[in-house]
Amino acid sequence: MKCNRLVDVGRRQFLRGGVLGVAGAAAATVLPSGARAETPRAMLDYPAAKLGNLADLKVDVPVDIGYPDADSPGILLKLGTPVEGGAGPEGDIVAYSVLCPHKGYPLAWNAADRTLNCPGHYSRFDAEKGGQQVWGHATQNLPQFALRIDEAGDIFAEGVDELIYGRLSNVL
Ligand code: FES
Repeated sequence: MKCNRLVDVGRRQFLRGGVLGVAGAAAATVLPSGARAETPRAMLDYPAAKLGNLADLKVDVPVDIGYPDADSPGILLKLGTPVEGGAGPEGDIVAYSVLCPHKGYPLAWNAADRTLNCPGHYSRFDAEKGGQQVWGHATQNLPQFALRIDEAGDIFAEGVDELIYGRLSNVL
């Protein structure tokens, strides 16, 4: 009897999830033309954290950051050309976690080919393609931070599109 009740509760939860998913998909398809669909972020409430200002960035000179908290190191980059997920007037500013999704080694920026490289087992991630893995052992792309830039040029991180290495939830 108890078991049947649990199955029933589970079924209702599943159906509710399905309804929400369909509603989300429907909402995503009615965006005005030219608008970009937001990547769902696992319904977490991310903090908005100031990372810097447009005036402080130079092309190919990375800035060390921490997001969503100080224990999650990342990198803020101005690439000089518009890229996927790029923010700012030129669409060329991106930010990523620098913890390798494989086993958490700290990644190093390589300006020559616009990749973040792992010294542990040599995975590589393309900073111009939303952190897409281009080689190696990792089984997910590099977490990219969603950026917003205000009228004063201040750059804020407001979300993450993949799970940061070593975390069960990006927001602790
Ligand atoms: Fe980066 Fe293994 S820790 S590839």
